[in-house]
Amino acid sequence: MDAIVSVTRDWGIGRNGGLLVRNKADMRRFKELTMGGSVIMGRQTFEGLPGGPLPGRNNIVLTRNRDFSLAGIEVASSIDEALTLADAYGGKTWLIGGASLYRQFLDKCSKVYVTLHDIVLDADAYFPNLDEDDAWSCVDITETDFTEHGVPFRFVLYEHL
Ligand SMILES: NC(=O)c1ccc[n+]([C@@H]2O[C@H](COP(=O)([O-])OP(=O)(O)OC[C@H]3O[C@@H](n4cnc5c(N)ncnc54)[C@H](OP(=O)(O)O)[C@@H]3O)[C@@H](O)[C@H]2O)c1
Repeated sequence: MDAIVSVTRDWGIGRNGGLLVRNKADMRRFKELTMGGSVIMGRQTFEGLPGGPLPGRNNIVLTRNRDFSLAGIEVASSIDEALTLADAYGGKTWLIGGASLYRQFLDKCSKVYVTLHDIVLDADAYFPNLDEDDAWSCVDITETDFTEHGVPFRFVLYEHL
């Protein structure tokens, strides 16, 4: 499984249940990378998706609520159950958030695809700082680009050592 995340300079990822930065190029890349695979997400991230389940992907929602059920998603009550569902679907498996899932299951990921925005914004949800973690190494970083609102960003790839 690989993780994918959009962060600000201090590894902020969200506020009030929503994302911090709007970035069309990042959304496009997220779609391209995850299309055809399984996306594992926490119940809160799922409920924040503006259009419901992500089309063309196996949406697996992690919740401790055994009664949680909705059309277009698979429900798992543990990461092992989620990974079994993802294996059965085939294709690549992506951990797509939010903060609590990243925190708990990053160790199970081989790579993290980070979109790093060079800005600090008021956040209440954070990704672990991979630059301060010896278990992770930055292996690729793109040239700086700009969001539609002029925020500089780069795509950064980390590998689990
Ligand atoms: N920037 C990004 O790339 C990115 C990506 C995704 C999310 N986000 C942001 O992250 C924030 C949400 O993160 P969050 O930490 O509050 O919520 P979350 O991780 O999306 O969801 C948390 C929920 O997942 C379920 N859960 C967590 N661990 C579980 C486990 N071990 N077993 C079973 N169920 C488990 C629980 O659901 P129940 O309460 O139903 O039991 C828990 O309340 C939002 O601001 C969102 O916008 C940002």
